Amino acid sequence: MTETPFITSDIRYIGQDDAEIRLFESQYVVPEGMCYNSYLIMDEHIAIMDTSDNRTMDLWKRDLKEALGGKTPEYLVVHHLEPDHASGIGEAVAMYPEIKVVCSVKAAQMMPQYFCNVQPSKLMTMKEGDTLSLGRHQLVFTLAPMVHWPEVMMTYDATDKVLFSADGFGKFGVMEADANDWAREARRYYWNICGKYGTPIANVLKKASALDIEQVLPLHGPILKGEKLAEALRLYGLWSHYEVEEAEGVFVAYASIHGCTKEAALKLVEILKEKGCPKVEIADLSVEDQATCISNAFRYGKMVLAASSYDAGLFPPMYDFLHHLLIKTWQNRKVALIENGSWAPSAGKTMLKLIEEMKGIEVKGELLTLRGRMKDEDVAKLETLAENLLNG
Ligand SMILES: Cc1cc2nc3c(=O)[nH]c(=O)nc-3n(C[C@H](O)[C@H](O)[C@H](O)COP(=O)(O)O)c2cc1C
Ligand SMILES: [Fe+2]
Ligand SMILES: [Fe+2]
Repeated sequence: MTETPFITSDIRYIGQDDAEIRLFESQYVVPEGMCYNSYLIMDEHIAIMDTSDNRTMDLWKRDLKEALGGKTPEYLVVHHLEPDHASGIGEAVAMYPEIKVVCSVKAAQMMPQYFCNVQPSKLMTMKEGDTLSLGRHQLVFTLAPMVHWPEVMMTYDATDKVLFSADGFGKFGVMEADANDWAREARRYYWNICGKYGTPIANVLKKASALDIEQVLPLHGPILKGEKLAEALRLYGLWSHYEVEEAEGVFVAYASIHGCTKEAALKLVEILKEKGCPKVEIADLSVEDQATCISNAFRYGKMVLAASSYDAGLFPPMYDFLHHLLIKTWQNRKVALIENGSWAPSAGKTMLKLIEEMKGIEVKGELLTLRGRMKDEDVAKLETLAENLLNG
């Protein structure tokens, strides 16, 4: 058995990779798997920092015991009660009956929903700025409500200068996945899992900026330090304020039943490139991963939505996409719209109705209506649509 790795001289990693999982949270495809991070602070008083998902519980318990080397933990710090991290709370309390479960007041209120064996007498609740001394390590707790759930808190270990950041700074993938491209899966994770909570995340980042942090230890994905931490902080600064990463980039998202709208969308990509658009990405909403499409909608400053009319409304893959963007509070971006319809085009007005519910979405130019196959005159209209979008 390999030894559990050391992060600092006292902090050990006891998290688990899950290469088998297909859908994280029953909806996100994770081709590179997932990991549920957990840590152990070995000090005069020992603290476990979060547990694991049920899927990896046996391995977590094995690694916990190995890292403890026969010692007994006194504290279990729970940053987040969601089952992908908290499934081991009941087990830890059963294994170590004297252990104290350290969590926010809100987490203490929610605890009985998940764990019947964690009596209130076992809980130590923490408020903003409360501290806990483990001996050498001084832990400072900071609340991070809605950095995924309302009960979330983070811990700053002032001794080793590390921040336990809960779901913040997480990503999809096993620990070693994408070692040189953190942003790709971190972006998809952020917009789909945290996207709605920009303001609470910005608040936490502000609090964190006052701390001397050398390493961020999230609950998913790699530990961040040095240049990688600086880049992650830069991106979180943009993302939490809903700022775009590529202001002049265009994302063309289409939903086409029989391929006519698709043909026009492909032609538009050609035109955009000819006109010097610095970055164009295209996606077929019927087949491509919706979570990736959502993160692209946030990434680029401009988007073209092209869809077939369907039953006096909108072809469902586009409807679902816009509905998801609405609930993720997609905002402050520019769009151009293309509809296709054979007898009573209805896609455009349905898209506009959804867009009107969003904040700060500027519709550029006129709605372009196609009737079945693209004609020569439609190409001229696509040229105009591209110009309107690119120049403004
Ligand atoms: C089930 C179904 C429902 C449709 N409903 C409408 C409709 O309500 N109004 C309309 O103008 N066209 C409707 N259409 C036609 C499509 O919008 C047509 O496929 C489109 O004009 C051509 O573009 P596409 O090849 O990209 O799908 C419907 C097509 C199908 C298969
Ligand atoms: Fe979570
Ligand atoms: Fe999580």
